[in-house]
Amino acid sequence: MAAQALNSCETTNGLDMRYLSLLITLALSSTIAHAQTPSAMAVASAHSTATAAGINILEHGGNAFDAAVAVSATLAVVEPYSSGMGGGGFWLLHRELDKRDIMIDGRERAPLKAHRTMYQDTKGEVIEGLSVDGPLAAGIPGEAAALVHIAAQYGRLPLKVTLAPAIRAAHEGFAVTEHYRQVAKFRLEVLRKSPAAAAIFLYRNDVPPVGYIIKQPDLAHTLEQFALKGRTGFYSGEVAKKLIAGINAAGGIWSEKDLQTYQIKERTPTRFSYAGYTITSASPPSSGGVVLTESLNTLSQLPYTQADSLHRIHYVVESIRRAYRDRAEYLGDPDFVAIPLKHLTSMAYAKELAQSIEPDKATPSEFLNAVAPAPSGNHTTHFSILDKEGNRVAATLSVNYPFGSGFVPPGTGVLLNDEMDDFSAKPDVPNVYGLVGAEANAIDPGKRMLSSMSPTFVEGPQRVAILGTPGGSRIITMVLQGILAVTENQNAETIVSQPRYHHQYLPDTIQYEAGAISDDQGTQLEAMGYNLRLIEGGYGNMQVVLWDKANNNVSAASDPRGIGTSRVK
Ligand code: DON
Repeated sequence: MAAQALNSCETTNGLDMRYLSLLITLALSSTIAHAQTPSAMAVASAHSTATAAGINILEHGGNAFDAAVAVSATLAVVEPYSSGMGGGGFWLLHRELDKRDIMIDGRERAPLKAHRTMYQDTKGEVIEGLSVDGPLAAGIPGEAAALVHIAAQYGRLPLKVTLAPAIRAAHEGFAVTEHYRQVAKFRLEVLRKSPAAAAIFLYRNDVPPVGYIIKQPDLAHTLEQFALKGRTGFYSGEVAKKLIAGINAAGGIWSEKDLQTYQIKERTPTRFSYAGYTITSASPPSSGGVVLTESLNTLSQLPYTQADSLHRIHYVVESIRRAYRDRAEYLGDPDFVAIPLKHLTSMAYAKELAQSIEPDKATPSEFLNAVAPAPSGNHTTHFSILDKEGNRVAATLSVNYPFGSGFVPPGTGVLLNDEMDDFSAKPDVPNVYGLVGAEANAIDPGKRMLSSMSPTFVEGPQRVAILGTPGGSRIITMVLQGILAVTENQNAETIVSQPRYHHQYLPDTIQYEAGAISDDQGTQLEAMGYNLRLIEGGYGNMQVVLWDKANNNVSAASDPRGIGTSRVK
């Protein structure tokens, strides 16, 4: 821009004008630069201790990426039923310096001894629970490798500093809440089966009372090794040995090679435009970005903005139904399967899909090319961070089911994930979230399982939102509704609290929270051919940070359905 201004002056007004023009250009660009730096920093996460850890790191010279390491590790301690060192996730980063968006794929991968039919019996029937409970359900964890990478490549502070809040929390303990009790009750039987898990997460082999302090000395030791030695502190040496010995003694199939060869991947996030906003979200092996692109592209081809609230639901459901169908057929680990990404995310395809949507009638899923019910939940976690330089992190991390596999290898304090259930154990047999899959998401050694986790940036000329949520198969529709709310200028509280509805192709049902669909709308939707199911108690745990550039105001909100907190400083 400066060069252009100089050139045009040179030909018309000579040197003095050129100098003047340069001064004006510099003054203008510094005003713009100032307006593009947030007035405050903000963290929103699913637990107050993690939010405080993030703010603390930001206040002591860390950037958003350092804060992300601190928040991830602290959540691993104080929200053990959602994410942890025994799990993985996707960290979406925006580095303001070079305006680069990067997805750190710290997704778990299948052990090298895993195979396609490992969850089936001799008759080819899926053995219930095998991919969900206990050691065979655990993929090779990616969180430790991701944190090392984020700290080394993007942060400023050493792990010793950024992991300190987590280590402290593991030593000092956290208090059991009513929410903890509910989740522990749900997973009581599986936790009881792992003596090391029961010793940490239960009290006298039962659900602990509210206020009981859960201290995790083994996890503190593991985190200390990790802080001291980095990658080798987790993937080789003492901790790795204990992980492998513990899991294999209980029937697992991990090897040293599994841990030593685990690598994070830096991936290009999925990016598309909707209603004048640029949406950046998780690329495969998450299905989030692709499903969001396909469904919002389709929505953009429909008279959504002019429609009444009933038809808005109809258009969203029909768009998402088609995108979830394609998810089931085509999506999987991009390092193992060829995904027709160009086609799925093209506007030409969206136009075709939009044309197949009738204005007043549901399309039964069985009418779509053929390629099952989900529990509600918020187990998995999301946090959003903005620092004062404009760096951002949206991260969704998981051990999958509440308390993951429920298995802790003795002496490690590491609760292992059960992400293996995110693979398709058998074509068209639904997983715990009711999601079906095909060949693209079949189990293979070293392959990453398909995810729905969708950490997302929504960026328009006036505002930037950093958002995401847990919720299994419902993550993508929650994020979609979050994006729509950002584009409709809603505030942070409304974005996280608005009532939600969901459709995922199969089961062919609109699931909804109280308040999302009125009785009258319900009757009309049924007349249009929809099945409806009310989800008691709601679902999701969205965390959002919003930066309104127009007035340089930073706000943040934590989903009222959870126990998280947000802070702006
Ligand atoms: O990666 C996925 O899509 C799942 N493992 C996420 C699980 C989840 O969100 C659980 N919360 N209800």
